[in-house]
Amino acid sequence: MTATPKTSALMARGAAFLGTEHAILCGAMSWVSERNLVAAISNAGGFGVIACGAMTPDLLDAEITGTKALTAKPFGVNLITMHPLLFDLIAVCAKHGVGHVVLAGGIPPKGSVEAIKAFGAKVIVFAPTIALAKKLFRSGADALVIEGSEAGGHIGPVSTSVLAQEFLPALAADHLVFVAGGIGRGEAIASYLEMGAAGVQLGTRFACASESIAHPAFKAAFFRGNARDAIASVQVDPRLPVIPVRALKNKGTEEFTAKQIEVAHKLDAGELDMAAAQLEIEHFWAGALRRAVIDGDVERGSVMAGQSVGMVTKEEPVATIMAQLLEESEAALNRR
Ligand SMILES: Cc1cc2nc3c(=O)[nH]c(=O)nc-3n(C[C@H](O)[C@H](O)[C@H](O)COP(=O)(O)O)c2cc1C
Repeated sequence: MTATPKTSALMARGAAFLGTEHAILCGAMSWVSERNLVAAISNAGGFGVIACGAMTPDLLDAEITGTKALTAKPFGVNLITMHPLLFDLIAVCAKHGVGHVVLAGGIPPKGSVEAIKAFGAKVIVFAPTIALAKKLFRSGADALVIEGSEAGGHIGPVSTSVLAQEFLPALAADHLVFVAGGIGRGEAIASYLEMGAAGVQLGTRFACASESIAHPAFKAAFFRGNARDAIASVQVDPRLPVIPVRALKNKGTEEFTAKQIEVAHKLDAGELDMAAAQLEIEHFWAGALRRAVIDGDVERGSVMAGQSVGMVTKEEPVATIMAQLLEESEAALNRR
């Protein structure tokens, strides 16, 4: 008997797919979503996801081994599609019998979905349009995450509320769709479940849990931050497309603008070609997130955070956060 029966009933499909008690994923967060947070989420009945990010296959191997030592519950691995060793990383997941692989950061390259399904894992994808989502389902994807622009980290241009209204009526009857971006309380979870979502994915709300290894200064920045402080980065030069990143504004966000101008000048001077220029911009954030999360440099690092950051006010164990979200959802459904 569950304490939150109405929420559980609406989450049943998603929970069965994930093999969890609750259809609540903690979205992979580079540097933050390592063994400790991932295991804590899964042990609390949710679904933790390791952020592989730029890890080498050996590092991912060690991280999966470490996570398994801390939880016997299901968890997933998030792989970035443009990682040069994507297929080696998939092989590491296969070796460990990982149950769910999340492909993020772009359209899955040819053969990647097949390679994951070949060892029996489920494939979770992102898609910015309904047409692409349908195509990915046809190619074997098992579930979809729609992520609105309120989210922390790399974001698309459309808000969660609009994506939910477009995607859920079109896809949720026949497919598993999880909603992400800007979810800080259970009332919002209840609403998306009622609209047909199989479950939800949160990042910001869990990033500063007691079990998170994020630096105390990173956590303090979250506790201080309000929705309006979590801003999307701007693109300076039309030749250098920047996937916007939502992070707390600081010296680092200003330096990113300066970096783009510097790279644009190098491009003009012929010191860099287009590919190298784009890589330099992408690398700026990769290093900057580590500086914020691990080193605690919240002035120059990238303090990636979603707009729900204002609802993160103190350090709490994952289980407490999870229980609170479920209670809020249940109370909302009981008031209907
Ligand atoms: C610090 C941080 C790092 C993130 N890193 C990644 C990542 O490496 N890969 C990814 O697919 N999503 C990443 N995300 C997005 C989360 O997985 C999740 O989808 C998002 O946080 C959900 O929105 P919310 O922050 O509003 O809860 C990151 C988010 C944050 C806050």
